[in-house]
Amino acid sequence: MKLASISENKTVEKRLSITPEIAKKYIDLGMEVFLPSEYGVHLGFNDKDYKTIGVNFSENERDIVANSDIIVQLGLLNEEMLSLLKDNQTLIGSLNISKNKVILDNLKSKNINCFSLEMLPRITRAQSMDILSSQANLAGYKAVVEAFQIYERAIPMMMTAAGTIPAAKVLVVGAGVAGLQAIATAKRMGAIVFATDVRMASKEQVESLGGKFLTVEGSENLETEGGYAKEASEDFKKKQEELLSETLKKIDIIICTALIPGKDAPKIIKEEMFKNLKQGSVIYDLAAIQGGNTAFTEVNKIVEKNGVKILGEANILNKLPVSASNLYAKNVFNFISNLYDKENKKLNINLDDEIIEKTLIK
Ligand code: NAI
Repeated sequence: MKLASISENKTVEKRLSITPEIAKKYIDLGMEVFLPSEYGVHLGFNDKDYKTIGVNFSENERDIVANSDIIVQLGLLNEEMLSLLKDNQTLIGSLNISKNKVILDNLKSKNINCFSLEMLPRITRAQSMDILSSQANLAGYKAVVEAFQIYERAIPMMMTAAGTIPAAKVLVVGAGVAGLQAIATAKRMGAIVFATDVRMASKEQVESLGGKFLTVEGSENLETEGGYAKEASEDFKKKQEELLSETLKKIDIIICTALIPGKDAPKIIKEEMFKNLKQGSVIYDLAAIQGGNTAFTEVNKIVEKNGVKILGEANILNKLPVSASNLYAKNVFNFISNLYDKENKKLNINLDDEIIEKTLIK
């Protein structure tokens, strides 16, 4: 089988789907791998690194797309490339079903198999393929690094002959994968960390990392069967606002990660709450692209409000694209290994397999 990837639009996406390490794994599996010239050069992966392990290169991305059985990408291909796809080809990536529904339905009608990996079930067997977890983990780490860099004071407590510097206090809003990594990173740097979430299961996880969990008084557990958050009731939102308004008075840095699948990000740090924040405090909003968790978040801008800096980017993973690509490429390889019938050297789209059934666009 011919497996390929072409260059992403690098102004929005610096990550790659096939690293040299992973190309070798596909070849060992019995596949032929095709890439365009200079595919990974921007991340320090030269064509030579791929060629020495047997990857085929072509100048012409159109030929690559038209002649491959499987194409692996980060985002959806552009219109021109999509028009080249035909019957029985397979496209795998993070295809964003809610945004690209019409395009994906059209591909389905042409009998093109599209697998969108953000739809993977959160089951044990799928953990090694879980792109949401691997990328959110890195995003949580990098958000802390970015916020700490812009914060104009030291993070850990320091006792010196010239006086004591207090430890910075960090609040993490949303303790899923990104939030838990943010807690771990901030703790490692010496901050005192508080966290809150609507899912009570996260309390124990926060505490095991040395964070203090802020429980909304009388809160019901807003967790779906799949382990995701449900939208909070007005009563819950009011109580959460009261709790956080008080907490904000002592906080220096906030890392926002709260999301509800399929919805705009919940607005948690509201306009009136800003008056409680200290001058010089910093907010990194990882939910920026979904609308943001604060009243003032703007994508790709540093907004300043009452002496508070609010940061949020469209794609923070572009700031550590090598690590992000290494994990993403491995996730996709694990997904394809599960899909590939090694004996008959073809894909086996077995809809009895929950992983395949949930990710295939139907
Ligand atoms: P996410 O990225 O969808 O959301 C981030 C966090 O925001 C979640 O913890 C959510 O509960 C929280 N949140 C939503 N609304 C909020 C609000 N109003 N206030 C405060 N917090 C709010 O979540 P992520 O990181 O994808 O994790 C979702 C679930 O999936 C978790 O239960 C996690 O443990 C589970 N999971 C399971 C895996 C597995 O393989 N078994 C792998 C990864 C995650």
